[in-house]
Amino acid sequence: MTTRKHAAEPDFLLALDRYRQQGVLAWHTPGHKQGRGASPALLRALGQSLALDVSDVLADKRHHDDWDEVLLEAEARAAEAFGAAWTRFLVNGTSGGIQAMLLAVLKDGDRLILPRAAHMSVAAGLTLCGAVGEYLPYRVDRQLGLEVPPSAEDYAEAIATHPDAKAVLVTYPNYYGMCADLAAIAAVAESHGMWVLVDEAHGAHYAFHPQLPPTALSCGAHITVQSAHKTLGALTQSSMLHAAAAVDHAALDRALTLVKSTSPNALLLGSLDAARAQMAVAGKQLWSSALEQAGAAREQINALPGWLCLTPDRMRQVVPY
Ligand SMILES: Cc1ncc(COP(=O)(O)O)c(C=O)c1O
Repeated sequence: MTTRKHAAEPDFLLALDRYRQQGVLAWHTPGHKQGRGASPALLRALGQSLALDVSDVLADKRHHDDWDEVLLEAEARAAEAFGAAWTRFLVNGTSGGIQAMLLAVLKDGDRLILPRAAHMSVAAGLTLCGAVGEYLPYRVDRQLGLEVPPSAEDYAEAIATHPDAKAVLVTYPNYYGMCADLAAIAAVAESHGMWVLVDEAHGAHYAFHPQLPPTALSCGAHITVQSAHKTLGALTQSSMLHAAAAVDHAALDRALTLVKSTSPNALLLGSLDAARAQMAVAGKQLWSSALEQAGAAREQINALPGWLCLTPDRMRQVVPY
């Protein structure tokens, strides 16, 4: 893997800022004209950031940076940082990314093996592509009363029952931070020629500290979608779709075209680039500190009578039924 020049810099965001500094008189959308025509209330609330909210200019290669190139480079740097072969920035959340992932891989009538508690965007994706969901058993920990991820055995059984399924979907982690044994699930799915699709909405940070769970891609996922606005510092709605080399990246781009706006918000794209740069530069140090503080908080909560805060050890001891 090559180390890209200036990997520490959020070049897309910096290019936006350069455009602001040029003081260009905007003849392009959005109609607030970099804040000049904004309502006073909006201007008060958002200030300078309105000057970075430009959309049509992203298509103008004559007078400014070649935005396509800057964006592709930012996505390539993200691929490198997150351990992917190919990455796309998303401005309509992991929801849009999941829909595109399913549209790229599944056709009308195909089968997808998935957890019962999958996010509603998975149901939306199935509806859009016409594929059929084969649901895994819903498991709950006896003591905690919390949903636990389906096991590798659950997936293996479903794969044996539906050997014609085209793909499996794993929610990783689930809503309580518990991770399925993704490497084992991916191994059995791969041995049956199935795609391994991951909803990693709450796991965008996993690449940046060795004490965090392994990333979906490192466990053998073919495609994963992460909400960089949930556990990283990107603006709300900002997500990333990462794919392994074996995936048809052009098919993913075509599928994304079906679900995405043709006017992506530059602030969201810039915030994804900045979140990537922040993690590339300081991710390990920031997560070390967060993990230490979370560990101390858990200990204190668990010392209170009648309170239980899940620890990684307790998560490994779930008793599903
Ligand atoms: C497990 C899971 N998957 C997908 C999503 C959708 O993510 P986004 O809000 O980025 O569209 C969510 C949102 O909460 C989620 O919890």
